[in-house]
Amino acid sequence: MELESIRSQRRRLMREDDKPQALYRLTPHDRLAWLVSKGRLSAEEAHCLSSHPWFSLDLVELLTESAVGHFPVPIGVAANFLIDGFERLIPMSTEEPSVIAAANHGAKLLRRCGISTIVPECQVMIGQIQCFVTGAIETVMKKILGKKDALLQELRLCSECSRNGRGAFDLEVSIPESMSGMRPQLIVNLLIDVGEAMGANIVNDLCEAMSELLVRQFSVDVNLRILTNLADRRLASAVGRVALKDLPTNDPRGVAERIEQASLWAEVDPYRAATHNKGVMNGVDAVLLVLGQDLRAVEAGAHAYACRDGRYRALATWRVEQNQLVGRVTLPMAVGAVGGMVGSHRSVAIARKLAGIRSVRDIASVAVSVGLAQNLAALLALVTEGIQRGHMRLHHRRKSLSIV
Ligand code: MEV
Repeated sequence: MELESIRSQRRRLMREDDKPQALYRLTPHDRLAWLVSKGRLSAEEAHCLSSHPWFSLDLVELLTESAVGHFPVPIGVAANFLIDGFERLIPMSTEEPSVIAAANHGAKLLRRCGISTIVPECQVMIGQIQCFVTGAIETVMKKILGKKDALLQELRLCSECSRNGRGAFDLEVSIPESMSGMRPQLIVNLLIDVGEAMGANIVNDLCEAMSELLVRQFSVDVNLRILTNLADRRLASAVGRVALKDLPTNDPRGVAERIEQASLWAEVDPYRAATHNKGVMNGVDAVLLVLGQDLRAVEAGAHAYACRDGRYRALATWRVEQNQLVGRVTLPMAVGAVGGMVGSHRSVAIARKLAGIRSVRDIASVAVSVGLAQNLAALLALVTEGIQRGHMRLHHRRKSLSIV
């Protein structure tokens, strides 16, 4: 009854303001009906967007805003991955068949020696607080640092997220490089153990709570309070080795050296590095998407990390070491095993089961491994036959599907 009255109120509001701007007020069913009534969608298109055996419109409405349906992206499974001694089948969600084919191929080459990963025990995110200062900056900085332990203790008492040994455990203060027009300011970085979560909400909550303490206790005026996506206290690395004799060529050392040369080029030239890293992220994104992660956050972190010394560089590198080709990749991995879509999307739950994901460390380790395998396969193709032959072969079968 209550739900019906909310719905009729929404319909009334929509009639009063019968414009697309008011669409968000409707239920997803009424929203679709409105789009059909205005000729924006046919009834068949509305049905196509919104019918799914379990991904109901009501569920979609809980997961996103102004929902009208769902957008299926294919899921494939990459095999051949041996990561830290464990066999993994890795679900990947992408519209690009060559991404999964490349992951399979790269993993097969790396399989004999295996891929080893390093993921930190403790998942640390950084929250940032921009504080405008009216008095002497250095004095305020010293005062804040002098009260660091007390501030963290107070934060622990006032914030739910800081309980259970998790939460903010350190605070750093810096003066940003000055630019014309910039007000005198300090940046407070809050270091937060986010446990099994990706951590955005925890970090932002704690930044807002800490801001109140700062405003109350120091002569500062707080502006922004937000996490940084440059999650560089949360780096995950993978190392993979291919015995030269396992490279599928009759000139293994020559091909390995060409891959090393391709890597060195991407390490110094941002134009090449952008494409090299796009190849790494092809794999990382496809895994993260199906595991319900915030791809935008990981992408932002990866590219900022690639630029950490002031020049945009390759995220994955390759060297010939004795009789092996050795690849290394390191990425900030702000991922979560709880929260977000993890507990509310059935495909995510199934993908996690398939990949044997039990923790945030599993997600990070799988993602960097796929990134490395992906990069290896791309470079191998590029230094030999080029990527177009394999690419076009996989694209060919799509032709019969054309619906426009
Ligand atoms: C294409 O999606 C990815 C590549 O361009 C990556 C690379 O150039 O290393 C093949």
